[in-house]
Amino acid sequence: METITSVRGFKDILPSETGIWHYVEGIAHETFTDFGFRDILVPILEKTELFKRSIGESTDIVEKEMYSFLDRGDESLTLRPEATASVIRAYIEHAMYAADPVAKLFTIGPMFRRERPQKGRYRQFHQINVESLGLDDPRIDAEVILMLMQFLKRLELSNLRLEINSLGCNACRPGFRDALYTFLKDKVDELCGDCRRRILTNPLRVFDCKIESCHQVIDQAPRLSFFICEECKEHFEKLKGFLNNFEISYKINDKMVRGLDYYTRTTFEVVTDLLGAQNAVAGGGRYDGLIKDLGGPDIPGIGFAIGMERLISMMSAGNEKFVVYPDLFIAALGQLAESRSFELCNRLRMKGVRTEMDYAGKSLKSQMKRADKLKCRYTLIIGSQEILERKAELRDMKNKTQVTLMLDDQIEEKIIKTVKER
Ligand code: HAM
Repeated sequence: METITSVRGFKDILPSETGIWHYVEGIAHETFTDFGFRDILVPILEKTELFKRSIGESTDIVEKEMYSFLDRGDESLTLRPEATASVIRAYIEHAMYAADPVAKLFTIGPMFRRERPQKGRYRQFHQINVESLGLDDPRIDAEVILMLMQFLKRLELSNLRLEINSLGCNACRPGFRDALYTFLKDKVDELCGDCRRRILTNPLRVFDCKIESCHQVIDQAPRLSFFICEECKEHFEKLKGFLNNFEISYKINDKMVRGLDYYTRTTFEVVTDLLGAQNAVAGGGRYDGLIKDLGGPDIPGIGFAIGMERLISMMSAGNEKFVVYPDLFIAALGQLAESRSFELCNRLRMKGVRTEMDYAGKSLKSQMKRADKLKCRYTLIIGSQEILERKAELRDMKNKTQVTLMLDDQIEEKIIKTVKER
């Protein structure tokens, strides 16, 4: 019979890989908690309208990449393509701002975008997502970026580059948009079909285009830095000053507009040369109008998301270091020994000793082989003779040493002591 495979672009994360995932999540929790963030869990499914209004109708994500469907034929729902919109929806829906407008939140989980799958790009991928709501002070921008870089440092990642830009605000961006429109209008013939459309819907989106000929046009296009207002300029200068104070090196990339419409002022990405075309490990920015646009109060915010698949593929240590192996294997010979072992095995597990045994009545040699294969640190051998003599042999699999233990009421405690002492 034909087997059923997973959906294209959706992948399994196997037991041999999950250790590193948990490790990364653990470091995220630890680092973000140090900076005063708390986690929030939001649904994977939202009303389509939420993403249209926040990410923007003219973005690639909303135009082409969302998994949307009609629920029972009337309501359009979407598998979330990102987490920011959901976090903001929750912040507004639960009036979290009423008790304190400042909320520092993070969430980790799967996102869905119907992009063309390739190395580092999946249709289901995972993000570690952070949002700092309530303040528009550039110190917050610096703090959020510092926290991101500290997280990456704790993971001992190198070959990373921080790129920053300012996208201006509602006061200065329209001037830039007009200039860009005028410039692009004269270059229509050199642009792809998508970009021709973008000139009318949102000319800034032309900067996102991955097509080489469009890049060449964009290279000569006006830059936002010429249009930015005094307030935005000052905000950006202060951010740069704080980053310098923390010795965080960065590069200004004035072509970076990010692929989502909600950004204002600071935007940033962490990129690497190690991942080929999909070079962004993390991206984020400020979104001072988003909470209001989604029906909440006029409260500013800034955040970022890290792509977990990309991050993990960069970790040189690999999975091996993070796999948890059993502490003990019980090799039992004969029925009597097996039933004593079954009890002992589960009693030890209940006391926190990672214990394994064999249920197939195999020879001592093959049980020892299995203990080796499972990479157990110790093996407890209970043979048919030993059980009669109420004895067991505890073997250190690494040092190849062995001690005899009495199979009495104290054996569990003795094993725990040995296993925990190493
Ligand atoms: P984003 O730049 O769309 O931003 O995504 C952030 C990160 O998610 C990317 O840098 C990348 O590492 C990863 N990523 C995105 N798409 C894929 C994919 N198809 N396959 C694998 N990894 C992917 C956002 O999503 C914003 N919500 C970030 C944010 C939070 N801005 C403010 N707060």
